[in-house]
Amino acid sequence: MSPHDSLLDFLGQTLGDNGVLTANSDVERYLNDWAGARGGQPLAVARPATPEQVAEVLGYCHRHDIPVVPQGGGSGLVEGALPDSQTPELVISLERLNRVRSIDPINFSMSVDAGCVLQSVKEAAEVEDLSFPLSLGAQGSCQIGGNIATNAGGLNVLRYGMMRQLVLGIEVALPDGRLLSDMKSLHKNNAGYDLKQLFIGAEGTLGIVTGAVLKLSPRPQVTRTALIGCPDVDSVLDLYAQARRSCCDLLTAFELIPRACLELAFEADPSLPDPLDEPHPVYLLMEVAASGPADLDSMIEALFERGLEDGLLQNGVLASSDIQARQLWQVREAMLEGQQRRGEHLRTDISLPISRLPAFYEQAEAAITEASPESQVIAYGHVGDGNLHFNVLPPEHLDDESKRSLLHDLEERLFTIVAAFDGSISAEHGIGRVKQPPFLERLSAPEHDIMRGLKRLLDPRGLMSPGRILPRPQR
Ligand code: FAD
Ligand code: LAC
Ligand code: ZN
Repeated sequence: MSPHDSLLDFLGQTLGDNGVLTANSDVERYLNDWAGARGGQPLAVARPATPEQVAEVLGYCHRHDIPVVPQGGGSGLVEGALPDSQTPELVISLERLNRVRSIDPINFSMSVDAGCVLQSVKEAAEVEDLSFPLSLGAQGSCQIGGNIATNAGGLNVLRYGMMRQLVLGIEVALPDGRLLSDMKSLHKNNAGYDLKQLFIGAEGTLGIVTGAVLKLSPRPQVTRTALIGCPDVDSVLDLYAQARRSCCDLLTAFELIPRACLELAFEADPSLPDPLDEPHPVYLLMEVAASGPADLDSMIEALFERGLEDGLLQNGVLASSDIQARQLWQVREAMLEGQQRRGEHLRTDISLPISRLPAFYEQAEAAITEASPESQVIAYGHVGDGNLHFNVLPPEHLDDESKRSLLHDLEERLFTIVAAFDGSISAEHGIGRVKQPPFLERLSAPEHDIMRGLKRLLDPRGLMSPGRILPRPQR
């Protein structure tokens, strides 16, 4: 029997017929991501249904030198989950591992399988009058395991933290086939190294997350959303500093949306109304939420009045119903679709100290315009966390090759400015394959040695998602 036949035989016996896919038509949907990137042909797609099965499959791959790549909802933006096109890999999909194991309302925690879709976890928490606060555009498809592997951020980080802050316990299938179970639901635990943190943000390069204990919050009883038109990015950041204080630290989201992004949203969804009478150079979309009685309207109105007096804002709308609030958030979602429709563009995910964001923005925009006056800057994001998606749409008339080389040049210029501002080239999406070259260039020798050492310790044969984050090991 060939090694490939032996693998398929093992998978069939261990996972059952439903647990392994090989036909091109079945495998197809695991080869594409949201952004349109395509992976290579995998050895097969394994669909284990229990943590033990995940571990068994990894153990087999370890013994037979078979590279693997875990896949969650496929919404990652750095191509980490797509199978390699040079060296065939076994895709391990977590989609069948999708049970909410338990919820503890007094401990504010819930224990879940890694393949649970984020939206379903949020809904399960709400049934108990609790909230799992991670929120992002892909929440209808991304999985908890993917969120952990990428240390996802999203819209509510300024109040609740990134995924790293929302994980109390973890269960991981290690590359050698053992199951590491640390599913404690403790809010405090200083007993030695915090091993779970190693796997959070490791993008599947150190093991496969099979389960997690998540930290919950009380479900907000009142939520208010406002969209405010401002003269410039400086004003938005001044308003942010005021809002953190005047809204009693109840701010849950604070997003920057330049006018150009609104136009993209209208392109994608012409039924969306322009929320304010006149266009404004930039907008901020903010949300305030409280889990008990709080006069959020008065807080926002006071912020608005003061902002108007100080010339920090020009106009605004406070959503008067859930439907109107939804509509404001739809603008934020539709603009991603609008960008996507414009074809290949520069997509970044950078972070800066919040206070330095306006100066960065000005310098970066000037650098892009100087280098390529015909390109369009689309720079928006979670400014309450200092996180910008400073994206660039290239001129449409360029051929594919020229576009690619222009975008590469613009990215380098942008990252040079990010470094000058002591920022990061990846705030929330991770490194995967796409951001690997700039990531490696910026690693210091000690950082490089520690990361390599950890990888060697946990995955001595280099079979877990080879070539993501760190370079593929030499064989
Ligand atoms: P996948 O794409 O399937 O995988 C991502 C990485 O994790 C891959 O390297 C994969 O190998 C690895 N992986 C997956 N599951 C496991 C597992 N169980 N164990 C170990 N490794 C695993 N991200 C943000 O942070 N903030 C945002 O606001 C945001 N908005 C988005 C909006 C849209 C419209 C889209 C398409 C994406 C957005 N993202 C955002 C990116 C993406 O949704 C997140 O990175 C998400 O956490 C990925 O989860 P996934 O299940 O889709 O993972
Ligand atoms: C967002 C994704 C791209 O914030 O991270 O829209
Ligand atoms: Zn984002």
